[in-house]
Amino acid sequence: MVSRRLQNIEESATLRMTNLANELKREGHDVISFSLGEPDLDTPKNITDAAVESLRRGDTHYSPSPGIPELRLAIAEKLNKENNLNIEPAHVIVTPGAKQAVFEAILAVLDKGDEAILFDPAWVSYDPCIKIAGGKTVFSPLDPDNDFNPTDVASYITTKTKLIVVNSPSNPTGGIFSREVLQEIADLAIDHNITVISDEIYEKIIYDKEHLSIGSLPGMEDRTITVNGFSKAYAMTGWRLGYLATSHELYTSMSKLQSHSVSSATTFVQWAGVEALKGDQSFIPEMVTEFKARRDLLVDGLNNMGIKCNYPSGAFYAFADVSAYGNGDNVCEKLLTEAYVAATPGSAFGPHSMDFIRISYATSRERIQTALQRIEQVLGYK
Ligand SMILES: Cc1ncc(COP(=O)(O)O)c(C=O)c1O
Repeated sequence: MVSRRLQNIEESATLRMTNLANELKREGHDVISFSLGEPDLDTPKNITDAAVESLRRGDTHYSPSPGIPELRLAIAEKLNKENNLNIEPAHVIVTPGAKQAVFEAILAVLDKGDEAILFDPAWVSYDPCIKIAGGKTVFSPLDPDNDFNPTDVASYITTKTKLIVVNSPSNPTGGIFSREVLQEIADLAIDHNITVISDEIYEKIIYDKEHLSIGSLPGMEDRTITVNGFSKAYAMTGWRLGYLATSHELYTSMSKLQSHSVSSATTFVQWAGVEALKGDQSFIPEMVTEFKARRDLLVDGLNNMGIKCNYPSGAFYAFADVSAYGNGDNVCEKLLTEAYVAATPGSAFGPHSMDFIRISYATSRERIQTALQRIEQVLGYK
């Protein structure tokens, strides 16, 4: 009964762990969730107020499919000013979440049999999107000892390569690609006529380093689809608001896909997006300072008990090497059932990441401290 297209698509591993954790919670256990990818903070009030005002104004009708003009303009201005991209408002598509933007971009680029390069580990939804589009994922491993940067991208390119997906800062590693690596990817994309999707959803959550958009490198303007959204920077996961932007003509195809599927992002949510981009930004540095303190607490704690983990440069994830204790799947199961700490196994993010677990530290310092004590009791020092 099920289409061949969907038969090989697995349930998201991050959600599976969350479901398991919820089951244990229902049984009365105090489960600490290190598995979900969302800030634990509330959306800033000025943004919520903008949505309420919009609703009261009566913005309850269909929006233009690619978004309300005010938001597309605000996004284009942001991309020009902050990301050094030369994007017109007409080339911005506002989507219900960045995930939809990634999906539209992948469907617009790939044909059956085309290859797409993902860096391993990669966010859980890229590979299923590639499969749904009929494409084939080629995993290029990242180097844990070099802030999870790739080592030899060129060796993964074939005549069938149509797409490279860049996600810096990365989910699940928190790593940031260096300027040299982004330049190397750009050179390969130009030489081999490859499109790049640059998923920059964590660009605002960075410690000590700077964000660089690959689309701003010379020659990349016409072959990059930049994806971003409001979920992480403004704690707006449930609002479902994201966008994509490109000066490539692919824009027309992605627009068609959006208009025949989801139609548009929710109208009053888009007005909240205008306020998010144009209003007070002080929420972001405050959030980043708190995440940095949590990162240090977590990674210091893991290293002190002998678990190998680098300090991630961005996002709110740590990717720890647990090979001394078993593979990532076994360790996650042990942590959940014995320590009541829910993390995500590295296997969810790619075939080269079996020895790792992802720990999302978007939870309070107090909970991180308790989780560390429990992890130490279960895994001990090796
Ligand atoms: C790398 C990456 N891209 C995209 C998304 C999707 O974000 P949104 O909530 O805007 O759909 C996520 C969410 O976890 C993510 O981690």
